[in-house]
Amino acid sequence: MSEGEQTRVYRGLKGVYFDRSDTTFIDGRAGELRYYGYSIHDLAANSNFEETAYLLLHGELPTADQLTTFDEEMKASRRLPDPVYEVIRTLKDAHPMDALRTAVSALAAFDDDAADCSPVAVLRKGVRLTSQVPMIIGAHHRLRTGEAPIEPNPALGHAANFLYMLTGVMPSDNAARLMDLDFILHAEHGSNASSFTARVVTGTNANLHAAITAAIAALSGPAHGGAAEDVMHMAREIGDPANAEAYVKTKRQNREPIMGFGHRVYRAEDPRARHLRDGVERLSVEMGEPHWNEILKALVEAMRPYARHGVNVNVDFYSGVIYHLHGIPEDLFVPIFAVGRLPGWTLQVMQQLENNILIRPLLLYNGPELKPYVPVEQR
Ligand SMILES: CC(C)(COP(=O)(O)OP(=O)(O)OC[C@H]1O[C@@H](n2cnc3c(N)ncnc32)[C@H](O)[C@@H]1OP(=O)(O)O)[C@@H](O)C(=O)NCCC(=O)NCCS
Repeated sequence: MSEGEQTRVYRGLKGVYFDRSDTTFIDGRAGELRYYGYSIHDLAANSNFEETAYLLLHGELPTADQLTTFDEEMKASRRLPDPVYEVIRTLKDAHPMDALRTAVSALAAFDDDAADCSPVAVLRKGVRLTSQVPMIIGAHHRLRTGEAPIEPNPALGHAANFLYMLTGVMPSDNAARLMDLDFILHAEHGSNASSFTARVVTGTNANLHAAITAAIAALSGPAHGGAAEDVMHMAREIGDPANAEAYVKTKRQNREPIMGFGHRVYRAEDPRARHLRDGVERLSVEMGEPHWNEILKALVEAMRPYARHGVNVNVDFYSGVIYHLHGIPEDLFVPIFAVGRLPGWTLQVMQQLENNILIRPLLLYNGPELKPYVPVEQR
């Protein structure tokens, strides 16, 4: 790099703005999150996933007629081509995230709009994928447990239908509402690792299926979507609230993170967490398994000294226990995150396309000087 050029390295691109966006407002110090100006707290209290998805994809809350049309479009999109069912069947023993990533990639081959990157086509495909992703997860789970995939139920909303396709049992209103809430809270979160990945892929003018496939890959890691699963493992390992303090001490001595705590952006508590905390409290009592809530509470207490350094609970601290109390296996926790995030990924791709640019940062070279090439027989 020549003298005078910018040589500061921002590892992990921490604190770097790479574009502008009018969608998602996040104030990490105040612990605030808004989608197009609407507080996550108002959406959590009053909205449902379909309405929130419409808001994200269209930039404003829908009228009653717009919501009905959108809902019909989502329901009509609950279809998977037979060859994609075959792909899922072939991968029935794979981790659900691997099966999901591969099936979404395969869907490109059967989507008439696949290569069309016009705004209307991307929107159509985004809605389609939002409906197809829960179907893939449901079908894969049924096939791996030796049962036939379940036909979607057009009488059910997005969240209830997802639970129904997983189990074949009509979910209770409470269970459906908690899943719906979970989807709202996960629907969009600015330039997180998977959405940034989707933008990087879009920056090369690759299509939406490619971008979402890559986003799913990025989401699968424990530092991003995998945290809910790891929180459940941790709660099991702790086993008793009395062990929480010693667990935290040992982890911190080894400089290991406590899962479900910390966030790249939030220094205050993640504003999404409180809505799921209430859910855990209620559900763990309802299900006769209060010890999970007790363990989580003891962990929050044990982590209190770190809160002043900005390490607080994040959204995934509570979601894993909620899924567990619903009887959902741990390896489905990250796929559930993906179901919720589909509108956010689609939105980020649409915004990237509005003013597209190749995303290509630099790596500052710190390797050896020029070396002479030595033929292999002389080495
Ligand atoms: C999400 C995460 C990757 C963010 O990491 P980051 O922005 O790079 O934050 P940093 O690693 O710079 O952390 C800053 C400080 O907080 C501490 N910290 C961050 N997350 C922590 C955690 N989960 N437990 C304990 N300490 C943590 C770090 O050790 C560091 O302390 P130091 O300055 O003394 O070294 C990280 O918090 C993490 O691994 N959390 C656990 C996984 C998780 O819950 N992910 C879901 C996110 S929604």
